[in-house]
Amino acid sequence: MISIAIDGPSGSGKSTLANALADKLGFVHLDTGAIYRTVALYVMEKGVDPHDTGSVVALIEEMDIGDIKIEHVGGAQRMILDGEDVTGYIRTSEISSCASTISAIPAVRTFLLELQRDFARRNNVIMDGRDIGTVILPNATVKFFMTASDDARAERRCAELKEKGEDVTVEAVKAAMAERDKNDRTRKTAPAIPADDAIMLDNSGLFEDTVEKALKIIEEKIK
Ligand code: DC
Repeated sequence: MISIAIDGPSGSGKSTLANALADKLGFVHLDTGAIYRTVALYVMEKGVDPHDTGSVVALIEEMDIGDIKIEHVGGAQRMILDGEDVTGYIRTSEISSCASTISAIPAVRTFLLELQRDFARRNNVIMDGRDIGTVILPNATVKFFMTASDDARAERRCAELKEKGEDVTVEAVKAAMAERDKNDRTRKTAPAIPADDAIMLDNSGLFEDTVEKALKIIEEKIK
């Protein structure tokens, strides 16, 4: 199976690139952030404080990995939690912050490891996240690490949240993003840093150029 890893901070355009590449190559796109967000939703629904590591770990220990299902409907990823499609509930600012907090807990990462690896064993995949190239798929066919300027990332994310009806400003989104990035980058387990063999992709400019560049690199590798 072929696997393409795309890591990088939030708003860098990982998911959009992964979608475009999956479309062009006929691969499946797995957005791993959505899996962490689904666990975050579960933690919040259970009324557990995400900063109370002991309680989060206790909750995860009781959870069955089979309670989380990933489906692809017409190329779009749906997240199913306990039989309910929760895709529409996991993109709020609150869930973003909770997902970042709980994803620093090693037990949460271990809980989700095999689910992600198993997906890559069964599909030609473009997987986007934070630790795909470093931890989940160390032998990925191609590894990218995406970046973009803070302004470009905040504007993108702000537009996304506004579209979902959240009343946000670019400044507030930028501040929340900076905090989340710091959490993700400096955590002890699986920090969001490039793998040694990752190819850096700057997505501050034209998106079409980024897609073309990535596609060329992949095609060169798999031909
Ligand atoms: O990509 P995203 O913004 O939807 O991810 C939400 C949070 O989940 C992010 O702050 C960090 C965490 N995450 C992670 O730790 N590892 C991944 N592979 C994907 C996401």
